[in-house]
Amino acid sequence: MRDETSYRIIAPYYDYIMAHVDYDAWGRYLGRLWKKHGAAPKAILELGAGTCPFARRDVYPPEAKVVYSDLSPFMLSQAPALSPDCRVAANALALPFKGGFDLCLMVYDAINYLMAEEDVARCFREGRRALAPGGLFIFDVTTEANSRKHFHHAVDYGELEGCTYFRESHFDREARLQGNDFVFFVENRRDREDGENRWSKIKESHQQRIYKLDKIKSLAKQAGFKVEGLFEGFTFRPGREASERVHFVLRKPK
Ligand SMILES: C[S@@+](CC[C@H](N)C(=O)[O-])C[C@H]1O[C@@H](n2cnc3c(N)ncnc32)[C@H](O)[C@@H]1O
Repeated sequence: MRDETSYRIIAPYYDYIMAHVDYDAWGRYLGRLWKKHGAAPKAILELGAGTCPFARRDVYPPEAKVVYSDLSPFMLSQAPALSPDCRVAANALALPFKGGFDLCLMVYDAINYLMAEEDVARCFREGRRALAPGGLFIFDVTTEANSRKHFHHAVDYGELEGCTYFRESHFDREARLQGNDFVFFVENRRDREDGENRWSKIKESHQQRIYKLDKIKSLAKQAGFKVEGLFEGFTFRPGREASERVHFVLRKPK
């Protein structure tokens, strides 16, 4: 992602655009994943948490301290009310946390917004630093199979309250770049009273890098993690290039 403004225009509409995503089921799956790997987390750090969908659900153990963070303050501003120390605008490449978390999560393609291998390596080093020894880093990636099947020359649109959007997606296979260009037509209420300019047209472009799973694995190992598993979608089957989404479970050695 270019900088913290990339997720700006979309922020107030993000939850509507993602209304099809079953975050309840996703949260339950993540819980099964960390339990399978022996974790009972008490201190949790979510990176790239966006509008913090898990803060609205019973995903984390009620006694756990959870810090939700994201590069985009605009996304975080759409989160439910949380105390300031639990909602922190932070770049996953330079985390302002000292350490001591026993679980770190980065969900829904957030890793794919890191555009260079070196950024992924930095993110892993930062995640490792934030974790206590023995802690888990769980994240998912979207794959080339997903881009080719669903996000190449694909157009999508939606009518939301006060906004209509179009999304055009394209996958550059050679550069391994997934582009999603949004055009928002936002109703301007004040202008409506004046009887002028009823809509503003605003564009926002997102780019993601589609990494090979082996590359992610080797970057994780280089950052000092043990790779405990790759899982296909929301299952416990092995993750592979043909999977559309793969969850990784990494462990910081004791
Ligand atoms: C597809 S959204 C996922 C948001 C949320 N995890 C969810 O499941 O809805 C990707 C998020 O990654 C964030 N992001 C991108 N680059 C980041 C970085 N370097 N550090 C932290 N967050 C980042 C974006 O701001 C955005 O909120």
